[in-house]
Amino acid sequence: MRRYHVTTFGCQMNAHDSERIKGMLEELGLGEAPSQEDADVLVFNTCTIREKPDQKFAAHLAQAAAVKRRSPDKVIAVGGCYAEAQRGRLFELYPYVDVAFGPGSIPHLGEWLGAGGFGLDRGSFGLEERSFAGELPMHRDRTFQAWVQISMGCNSKCAYCIVPAVRGREVSRRPGDVVAEVTRLAVEGVREVTLLGQNVNSWGRDLAPEIHTEFGELLRACDAVDGIERIRFTSPHPKDFRRPVIEAMADCETVCEHAHLPLQSGSSRILKTMRRTYTRERYFRLVDELRSAIPDLALSTDLIVGFPGETEDDFYDTMAAVEEVGFDSAFTFVYSPRAGTEAAAMQEQIPDDVKRDRIERLVDVVQRTAARRNAERVGRVEEVLVEAPSRTDQTLLRGRTRRNTTVNFSGEAAPGELVDVLIDGATSMTLRGAQAARVAA
Ligand code: SAH
Ligand code: SF4
Ligand code: F3S
Repeated sequence: MRRYHVTTFGCQMNAHDSERIKGMLEELGLGEAPSQEDADVLVFNTCTIREKPDQKFAAHLAQAAAVKRRSPDKVIAVGGCYAEAQRGRLFELYPYVDVAFGPGSIPHLGEWLGAGGFGLDRGSFGLEERSFAGELPMHRDRTFQAWVQISMGCNSKCAYCIVPAVRGREVSRRPGDVVAEVTRLAVEGVREVTLLGQNVNSWGRDLAPEIHTEFGELLRACDAVDGIERIRFTSPHPKDFRRPVIEAMADCETVCEHAHLPLQSGSSRILKTMRRTYTRERYFRLVDELRSAIPDLALSTDLIVGFPGETEDDFYDTMAAVEEVGFDSAFTFVYSPRAGTEAAAMQEQIPDDVKRDRIERLVDVVQRTAARRNAERVGRVEEVLVEAPSRTDQTLLRGRTRRNTTVNFSGEAAPGELVDVLIDGATSMTLRGAQAARVAA
């Protein structure tokens, strides 16, 4: 039997795409190999959001090239966002790559291999051939948690971001298809689903006039599916977070008390040049609205430092915003110019040493704020979905609260179970506790 190996970089969207890639390869009769060396088809599902993932991929591919020198009949397939961004010159940069496919054209990898890809001419498939990976067979490693793709592409024009160029314009999956998949997953034993889209809050707009719907309605439809205990979603864009979605979050028992709400910068001036189309004040108003509707809401965010033209004052506004909102966690990024984006061509690029200094200071504020927020949980009972033994101490279990914080706790429960945990300790990243009692199923 021929075997494949998939290496995945980047976001949850890519991780989910890899489940589809694997499912499709298995349908073609390939088995999964434990390592690149053991595989006949080596797949790389790439990311190009910042320069770092590009470099990581280059290092991995150099290894694959060495494998292929030893066994020339191996197939090297490069998919994902970097493949799309470099489509014109990927074969030139990496002569040993056999097939390239963009994030929207995963099915074409299967067609190419199915047509006898071994020994075939090189293949390259991109944006113009997009279709929903969500319609492909899926290989899931996780049994009780699953991702569900609700849209592909992005219509925003964030000045720093390469995603619209590599994933194309937004196309929403039809509500019936989404709900059918969630129902299928529930029947298979999935208890927690995460709805995925670059901007989940603009979901549905492109379905008009045929279908008039919005994301809040989709949340309600998924909430109604029997067997699903928890619904998460990522990411909503603050500019599109409307009342019906807030109301659905408040009303639906299964929708978790957590929103990942990318702020990017706390300076209205920088937000404007980033083309985020909201101000600091509007973001704060949204936070207030969310918190008054969902009292125990956890908020996480994405922040960029060193965007072109960012002054010390602008940066200060970002640090102050972290404290003022009180984020439970935040991903912090150093701005990385991406070829072809608006910001890459801007004057006033920020020197590396300034960026490094700012990210250090920002990480510090983020950690202090997160530690304070987590400390507030001590003494409370949290509902935890058990995931596995703890990474640091095998005698403990690990799981996540509805607010999406990792908890290491003592207790007896199986992965996939929901348990109540009394929280007795906290760091900036995790909580600690002891199991109280099983939550009645
Ligand atoms: N569509 C999602 C995720 C986009 S990528 C959203 O809008 O939330 C995830 C994060 O990477 C972004 O939120 C942003 O903070 C960061 N990012 C994107 N492009 C970047 C760049 N060129 N340099 C640094 N960080 C970037
Ligand atoms: Fe990129 Fe902005 Fe779209 Fe997110 S919303 S994917 S940051 S362009
Ligand atoms: Fe995701 Fe990276 Fe593409 S963050 S959308 S895999 S560029």
